[in-house]
Amino acid sequence: MIKYKIAFIGRSNVGKSSLINFLLGTAIAKTSKHPGKTRKHDLFSYNTKFDLVDMPGYGFAKVEGIKRQIWDKIMQELFFDDPLFKHLFVLIDSSIKPIKIDQEFLTWLTESNIYFSVIFTKIDKAKSKELKENLEWWKNFIGLLPNNFGAANTFLASSFLKKGKGEIKAFIETLRAIV
Ligand code: GTP
Ligand code: MG
Repeated sequence: MIKYKIAFIGRSNVGKSSLINFLLGTAIAKTSKHPGKTRKHDLFSYNTKFDLVDMPGYGFAKVEGIKRQIWDKIMQELFFDDPLFKHLFVLIDSSIKPIKIDQEFLTWLTESNIYFSVIFTKIDKAKSKELKENLEWWKNFIGLLPNNFGAANTFLASSFLKKGKGEIKAFIETLRAIV
């Protein structure tokens, strides 16, 4: 049976592997407090219809040069050449002030016409005032993206506090309709 791919991407250390483990209810994806743990893309079976793809993180110094080229190739193959690629979740760390590389990445996706949703990770980490400020900033940024990208779905998650799973899983269910 054909299985479609749902990819998780974001800055190194944003919590991609932790979130995939949380969604799957296992500890299958390797996590680390040292950025750059996931070096290639790994596939994990979600159900009979979908696999989850854990992508290497971007924006980490050691992923420059030759590794950067490998990363670009993985993105090229998945986003543009793979007919089984169905959806992209971009993970953004809600506990830190918005950083440029995430903004540039969302802009690049928009320009490349790659449909995505955003998951704000680590909502347990910042003080509530900072969390609110960061989320409001991003809401504004995403809302201003051209075409229909400003209407991108957004989710809040904490793998530590086990929050956000229901909403993300419900959204993945809606993707069945378009495959
Ligand atoms: P790379 O594979 O290096 O790109 O990183 P990643 O995005 O897969 O991140 P990973 O899941 O390995 O997590 C990175 C660090 O963030 C680890 O120390 C995790 O324990 C921590 N972390 C992940 N999720 C959460 C969360 O919800 N809250 C908090 N406070 N920390 C988290
Ligand atoms: Mg990882």
